[in-house]
Amino acid sequence: MEVSIYKDHDTLSSHAAGEIIGMVARKPDAVLCLATGDTPRLTYSLVVQQATARKVDFTRCTFIGLDEWVGISPENEGSCHYFLRHHIFAPLQIAPHQIHLFNALSGDLAGECGLMNRVVKQRGGIDLMLVGIGMNGHIGFNEPGVAPDQYAHVVTLDEGTRTVGQKYFREQTVLTEGITLGLKHVLEAEKVLLLANGVKKAEVVRRALEEEVTTALPASIIRKHANSRVMLDEPAASALTRGETKSR
Ligand code: GLP
Repeated sequence: MEVSIYKDHDTLSSHAAGEIIGMVARKPDAVLCLATGDTPRLTYSLVVQQATARKVDFTRCTFIGLDEWVGISPENEGSCHYFLRHHIFAPLQIAPHQIHLFNALSGDLAGECGLMNRVVKQRGGIDLMLVGIGMNGHIGFNEPGVAPDQYAHVVTLDEGTRTVGQKYFREQTVLTEGITLGLKHVLEAEKVLLLANGVKKAEVVRRALEEEVTTALPASIIRKHANSRVMLDEPAASALTRGETKSR
């Protein structure tokens, strides 16, 4: 694991966008798994800008959904579907056959998980996974206490995740379960980028990077991945006590 600290969210986002563009330029048929949330929003808009400016071809990529709120329609602005469609798929004109997202309205969520596991396997695994970190240390919807050896699964959301998740929705929304790729997907991905910005993430980032590696804090598992990079802005890095990394 490598930790990179950038002076602000703009710089962090520009480097993260460069990682995605670089991956697709090197490997046009890359399998990408991109998180939703406030953290990567700017990264994706820079990916769109750079892809257009550099004429990077995304037509052979595959996109895998990281997670989704169970029971929330893709038409709901707070859904992960909506976010990815709006910020990535529509601007980059990604074709439907390139996109594999969880159907969180399915009556057979276990079947959805099996389907996603098969897609990831058939595509030869995930080349680049970009994830965020929740306020409770989750990755995707891998909540504290998750089993480390799981692929896609359905989870009961923590109280904090239900509350924090309201920020994505226009109206108060009942959020009880999530469907998510598992930590095994994270560990098996060719490359993982974990992004965090803002001082509100500083304490959870410190715990993930400096306390023990434990599924009680799922994001700490990133330290077990040989080709992972934690990308932080200075506020998110401000609680770190070990000064082995430098700002860029
Ligand atoms: C959400 C999502 C995660 C996301 C994380 C951080 O609940 N399930 O995939 O990475 O929490 O979100 P944000 O970037 O908005 O802080």
